[in-house]
Amino acid sequence: MFYEPIKKDHGLPKNPFNSLVIPRPIGWITSRDPEGVVNLAPYSFFNAVCYSPPTVMFASGAGSGEDGLKDSIRNVEATGEFVCNLVTWENREQMIQTSASVHKDVNELEMTGLTSQPGRMVDVPWVAEAPVHLECRHVKSVDLPSWGDKDRYVVVFGEVIGIHIKDDLITEEGLVDVGRMHPLGRLGYNDYTEVDSNTIFTMVRPD
Ligand SMILES: Cc1cc2nc3c(=O)[nH]c(=O)nc-3n(C[C@H](O)[C@H](O)[C@H](O)COP(=O)(O)O)c2cc1C
Repeated sequence: MFYEPIKKDHGLPKNPFNSLVIPRPIGWITSRDPEGVVNLAPYSFFNAVCYSPPTVMFASGAGSGEDGLKDSIRNVEATGEFVCNLVTWENREQMIQTSASVHKDVNELEMTGLTSQPGRMVDVPWVAEAPVHLECRHVKSVDLPSWGDKDRYVVVFGEVIGIHIKDDLITEEGLVDVGRMHPLGRLGYNDYTEVDSNTIFTMVRPD
């Protein structure tokens, strides 16, 4: 099949785009508003985009607030800081709960019974139950062209200025044991995948 997204003529019961660029990592973003209210939400339009300096991005669609922004974007733009927490199999239920549309004054960490730990480089807490945390400083936001008001997408870029890795996930050889970490990937629709030692294989790049 072939379709042109702008014509929305795929003829399928659901937009297939979400199921094509997969699996996507999930950035579980903690941020804080200027009054100190902590926010936590998952974003799968999320990735690492470069090494030096390590930089990540996440993209948000339109939010329900008067400014049309989701809380994570509003907070990052106001305070200049955020943390990406790695989502794992163990945290999947809490991750889904934190995607609920709740009032901006609700702290989703407390709502889901997760434990917060203070950031070292940023004044934003991280989720203690996650094994990896990237403390980030906002670099810039980019507004993408849209088809209409509700299609608004803002991409936030952040420089990673502090990285936490749970010590027992480092092997004796000094590698991160991804098979034991069990990170989740977002597939389309309501589907996810989990990385474990059975689904990892190794390939060496040619010189
Ligand atoms: C696995 C998953 C991935 C998501 N990815 C995105 C995303 O990339 N962009 C987006 O705007 N919303 C995404 N959402 C929806 C947001 O998490 C949801 O709108 C949330 O309420 C936003 O919270 P905030 O307003 O506190 O930032 C995702 C939800 C789930 C469950």
